[in-house]
Amino acid sequence: MNGGPLVLALETSCDETAAAVLEFPGHVLASEISSQIPLHRRYGGIVPEVASRNHLVCLRPVLEQALEKAGTGIERIDGFAATAGPGLASSLLIGHAAAKALAFSRMRPFFSVHHLEGHLLSPFVGRLEGPRPCVALIVSGGHTLLLHVRGPFDYVVCGRTRDDAAGEAFDKAARMLGLPYPGGPEIERLARQGDPGAFSFPRSMRDSGNWDFSFSGLKTSLLYTLEKLGEGAGPRAPDLCASFQEAVVEVLVRKTIRLAGVLGTGLVTVSGGVSINGRLREAFEDACVRAGLELILAPRELTTDNAAMIAYCAGLYLQADRPSGLDAEIDPNLPFLRGNEAGRNR
Ligand code: KG4
Ligand code: ZN
Repeated sequence: MNGGPLVLALETSCDETAAAVLEFPGHVLASEISSQIPLHRRYGGIVPEVASRNHLVCLRPVLEQALEKAGTGIERIDGFAATAGPGLASSLLIGHAAAKALAFSRMRPFFSVHHLEGHLLSPFVGRLEGPRPCVALIVSGGHTLLLHVRGPFDYVVCGRTRDDAAGEAFDKAARMLGLPYPGGPEIERLARQGDPGAFSFPRSMRDSGNWDFSFSGLKTSLLYTLEKLGEGAGPRAPDLCASFQEAVVEVLVRKTIRLAGVLGTGLVTVSGGVSINGRLREAFEDACVRAGLELILAPRELTTDNAAMIAYCAGLYLQADRPSGLDAEIDPNLPFLRGNEAGRNR
């Protein structure tokens, strides 16, 4: 340990119960995640009631596991944090209330953090330098956002998806192909044996005059292609997956790099659940080299929902002496306009 403040964070916005202990700024002492994916798989998606019940069951063991792994006791924690939103109300409530209770009982500050600020800053977790101005792409199951990070706590949303999020598109495509939930990893796995040029799927809004995205046309195009093929994907599944993945990746990379050029920022970051995708990472690496841009990808273990990214944001707020009140509330639709206001959640 290097003597920085210790932050304990809980993240229960969706279907993962996560707890982390971070020695701010650079040292993740523990980042524990209990995934509910197998529980929800048989329903083909997340069932809110099942998720919240499971958070109740898992929270304490996951928290204890995180403290044990970090080699520290609760009495040494300098601040407690939790995700305030967006997410499932009944799931958010569990982690948020628990972190508040811990902060109150230990008489330490509480930090109510925006889930997307966590994803946004996850590429900087474990780095001593702190967040820098950049163009940031967040691609997850619920969100696809293109942002301009102008300075500390100063974020401007430049574009977002008009329909499905990138991860949602992967999940829906997988369902059409008869693949299990979550679809992203399954599509990536099959795509490795396929030809990305086999089918020409649309690159919706790739060259539009704004920074928004749309993936519903791509989904429809896949549906029509499947209908035309007759008896489902069959042996064409790898080609379909590779072509679908390529269409998503191309639009994401193209628009992000173009925005960095327009804004004149030398740094690009990519985060969120979809950013674990190997083809997306490779395409960003190539494009940034060609454009002379620095690229920081979220570490693989911090791409999907985790509590280390929430702890990191809380560490920044702790450093800036900006705690949240114990009256801070969760908000399933918490807006993300400027991280500052959104994160400080009333
Ligand atoms: O960030 P995340 O864990 O949850 C949200 O906050 O939404 O992202 C989950 C999403 C799912 O839609 C999942 O299909 C997608 O990330 N995903 C992937 C891959 N692994 C997970 N998408 C593409 N390729 C992958 N390898
Ligand atoms: Zn997320």
